[in-house]
Amino acid sequence: MKIAVVGTGYVGLVTGTCFAETGNDVICVDIDQRKVSKLSNGEITIYEPGLEKLFLRNLKEGRLNFTTDLAAGIKDAAIIFLALPTPPGEDGSADLKYILGVSKQLGHLLTDYKVIVDKSTVPVGTAEKVQAAIAENFKGDFDVVSNPEFLREGVAVEDFMKPDRVVVGTRSDRAKAVMTELYGPFVRSGNPVIFMDERSAELTKYAANSFLATKISFMNEIAQLCERLNADVDMVRRGVGSDDRIGKRFLFPGIGYGGSCFPKDVKALAKSSHDVNYDFKILKSVMEVNELQKLHLIPKIKSHFNNDLSGKHFAIWGLAFKPNTDDIREAPAFYMIDALLEMGATVSAFDPEAMANSKQVLGDKITFAEGQYEALENADALIIATEWNEFRTPDFERIGKTLKQKAIFDGRNLFDLQAIQALGFHYESVGRSAIHA
Ligand SMILES: NC(=O)c1ccc[n+]([C@@H]2O[C@H](COP(=O)([O-])OP(=O)(O)OC[C@H]3O[C@@H](n4cnc5c(N)ncnc54)[C@H](O)[C@@H]3O)[C@@H](O)[C@H]2O)c1
Repeated sequence: MKIAVVGTGYVGLVTGTCFAETGNDVICVDIDQRKVSKLSNGEITIYEPGLEKLFLRNLKEGRLNFTTDLAAGIKDAAIIFLALPTPPGEDGSADLKYILGVSKQLGHLLTDYKVIVDKSTVPVGTAEKVQAAIAENFKGDFDVVSNPEFLREGVAVEDFMKPDRVVVGTRSDRAKAVMTELYGPFVRSGNPVIFMDERSAELTKYAANSFLATKISFMNEIAQLCERLNADVDMVRRGVGSDDRIGKRFLFPGIGYGGSCFPKDVKALAKSSHDVNYDFKILKSVMEVNELQKLHLIPKIKSHFNNDLSGKHFAIWGLAFKPNTDDIREAPAFYMIDALLEMGATVSAFDPEAMANSKQVLGDKITFAEGQYEALENADALIIATEWNEFRTPDFERIGKTLKQKAIFDGRNLFDLQAIQALGFHYESVGRSAIHA
């Protein structure tokens, strides 16, 4: 099939590459000239495990192409995917200017039947708005389908190639047939393609992300209780997660959820609810808990240094919002960095993949270390913000020798309490007893 993907960010590039991998001819369109030049020259623009190999193979085979020219990109396509940003507007609702802007352009460009598929996360009713925006200038036949994307950054290729389920919102039989053929290779093992109406599909995505965010905030509140009741959240998590009805995943306490999806999607669903006069109380609490949790370590750090952080220097391991990605959008590390700088401290940070993106945002506000151990030099304590694998079994002797004080504040509960106690560190984490050196 001939496919166009408009928007070549995290979702668009994975979508385009994976569709090319199953033999389709894909053209990815982006307004960012630099991005398109890089991609056309075989230079990948995001860090996503396993993506580069597929990207290079399909580029070489000629099944994957990139352009800034929307008209040329969509001309021969049977399906046009929209993988455009939907950032939060000022009132928290998803800003549809990118989606509707491109839809309007499509109205001027379409000449024959095409299926326009919305892959971005969009509020209920967006498919109708896209339909109307196109129909303003194109009077022929076309269908608009909602096909929300559930991939997780860090395992995006695997998620896309072997989805748990594919949700397709359309009431058109013609579009249904196209989508069934397209997704056939991805659901050979029997996972379902779930057809529904457009509105239900749009809401499914928000419901899924909001539920996962709720699980995280719930467990973070349990962690708060554990600290006050002298219980161990790791034990509680295992006890609770072994129940099939609850499940083991998304129960890890920490310094809050971040990334480009959960924060904005929870906010947007709360706003959508408000707009239809429904007070979605749980979501408000989920957001409130997360705001507090991002700074959970700060009072602990302050108290350890007698409430005076001026002149103190901290090493931070991890800048990405989660491991295996270079995405720093809404990453908890950045909230901590801001708080530390505001209190007169200085910071040296290291992340295996997110340094370039972080430098663009932070400039010279902090120093960027060459490696995880270099970040420790002259630091009064180590703070762990992202659970990258390489931070899990570090050289504790080297950490102890390099830091000015043997103190670790761990926002991701990476280390065993007894082991770290035996090593003589001051260690504070989330929902577990503090270890005092
Ligand atoms: N990132 C994720 O993990 C993820 C997962 C599921 C769903 N989503 C949703 O998918 C959508 C895209 O997210 P993303 O993370 O890929 O965003 P992104 O910011 O990484 O990528 C968006 C791309 O669109 C391009 N763009 C903007 N305006 C354009 C235009 N007029 N024409 C062509 N290209 C244009 C940008 O240059 C950018 O490359 C969002 O709605 C998001 O909520 C994201």
